[in-house]
Amino acid sequence: MSASMNLTTHRVGALVVGAGGAGLRAALEAGRLVDTAVISQVFPTRSHTVSAQGGIGASLSNVEHDDWRYHMYDTVKGSDWLGDQDAIEFMCREAPSVVIELEHMGLPFSRMDDGRIYQRAFGGHTSKFGKGEVHRSCAAADRTGHAMLHTLFEECLKQGVHFYNEFYTLEILLQDGVACGVLAWDMVRGGFHLFHAKAVLLATGGYARVFRTTSNAHICTGDGAALCMRAGLPSQDLEFLQFHPTGIYGAGNLITEAVRGEGGYLLNCKDDRFMEVCAPTEKDLACRDVVSRGIAEEVRGGRGCGPQGDYALLKIDHIGKDKIMERLPGIWELAMVFAGVDCTKEPIPVVPTAHYSMGGIPTDRFARVVTPGDDGAETVVPGLYAAGEAACASVHGANRLGTNSLLDLMVFGREGGRQMGEYVASQSSWLDLSESAGSAGMAEVRRLLNGPAQRAMGPLMEQLRLDMEMHCGVFRTESDLRELKGKLAGHRAAFANLSVQDKGLAYNLDLIEALELGHMLDVCSAIAEGALARRESRGGHYRDDYPRRDDAGWHKHTLAFLEPGGGVGLDYKPVRMQPLTVDSIALAERKY
Ligand code: FUM
Repeated sequence: MSASMNLTTHRVGALVVGAGGAGLRAALEAGRLVDTAVISQVFPTRSHTVSAQGGIGASLSNVEHDDWRYHMYDTVKGSDWLGDQDAIEFMCREAPSVVIELEHMGLPFSRMDDGRIYQRAFGGHTSKFGKGEVHRSCAAADRTGHAMLHTLFEECLKQGVHFYNEFYTLEILLQDGVACGVLAWDMVRGGFHLFHAKAVLLATGGYARVFRTTSNAHICTGDGAALCMRAGLPSQDLEFLQFHPTGIYGAGNLITEAVRGEGGYLLNCKDDRFMEVCAPTEKDLACRDVVSRGIAEEVRGGRGCGPQGDYALLKIDHIGKDKIMERLPGIWELAMVFAGVDCTKEPIPVVPTAHYSMGGIPTDRFARVVTPGDDGAETVVPGLYAAGEAACASVHGANRLGTNSLLDLMVFGREGGRQMGEYVASQSSWLDLSESAGSAGMAEVRRLLNGPAQRAMGPLMEQLRLDMEMHCGVFRTESDLRELKGKLAGHRAAFANLSVQDKGLAYNLDLIEALELGHMLDVCSAIAEGALARRESRGGHYRDDYPRRDDAGWHKHTLAFLEPGGGVGLDYKPVRMQPLTVDSIALAERKY
């Protein structure tokens, strides 16, 4: 059949792409100022934020004294000094206010006996600049993201935000460098929709789905970063991918760090608590890159568990069934369903799982998308914003601390929504769209639908994800990355010949997965190129052949650009080391 699809045009003031925590928080804020619409690939409460378990970090001091400066110090250190310190200060200062705001919206936080919000310990979070333990994670049992999404979705509906659910974004529209909408595909009925907007905020989530073992939902395919690169904008720091140490063996699903925060610990096949050796002070609550490498080293060293010796065990039964069922009910269920293990009695088999994308669309601390200008200096792309895991602010640098993800969503979602709302309010009319607006996105859909089906898509996607895991996982080397580049070139060639087998227009998930695969290939190419070039180890990027951090050579952010023909060009920009108000030197010397 020939895919001659209708084009429907919508005019909106502020347009948010993505309905996870960042998208909903942004839409709520913008919706208070201007007419606001959200387009989302899935029904909003099915967005990936729903799977966030352990909590949102904020120095509320509900358990012991805490301070945003301690939180900032931990975040800068956790980022392996690649985080931008103005953005980090902003996030840590805003944290208590976004949590209290959520409480006032009705988010059902777990409570302490005195009624205040329950806070738990999490990896890398300390008090007094690394000297003591702190309880900073504000949690709704082990379903914090679920509670957050439902709370925000209800608030958005109350605010009159308009939702276009199950629309897949194909192209970002830029007119003379100014954002003016997106082209999307109606997944339910088929057909193109052009959303002509005064401003766009991208909150499309991360890209961890490009790895085979992952805690991420199927939709986390790096769409935002890929769409920006296709629009001629850079992506930033894509080589930094966080492997969460405790994914369920064989399935990848997240077993929250809160398990270790509540007293759980890791064991190898000799029943040794190996984290006591790898990180004698923080032990099982060391930063995630450290714990992930700890597990991978045990497996590499022949001390892994199970018949193939390829996992570690996470023991939690000693804290007691009542506490597990009160604080970790979702974990009990996940372990039972995906590992067949009753964690009140037996340990859970775990492996590192691709969990969080530190890289993404470069933004400043106002969630405005930035790009190098003609003179090389950074300039703002007018009308274009990004927030949450799709963005790179960069508050997580080379490695994110647990609980700082939900915080990032709330702080930069709110800030981006406010900035976008004010910008839209200042624009009296919509920019004219050129004749060719959306033509690239339409051509891609037509190619995939109308071409002869020469290659099956599923095996290609699975091979790509396996290759990423084998050659660009917890440990990376030059030879592995070179081999990966060769494989990616082959996958690109295969993709160019791909067309989908299902030729229908309505609910054609074959088509959506093919479009996602195209985005994944762009993202994987940028990851591989950035990882190969970066001859050092920092945070989530560990080079076996360059095991040390090299500040003289590599204390800088990577920018990746898509070149015609699918190649990737790299550029670099400095890390912003100057915080907003605190004295960075005093902070580093712990003088507060
Ligand atoms: O372990 C966890 O609950 C994950 C939290 C996070 O990634 O922030």
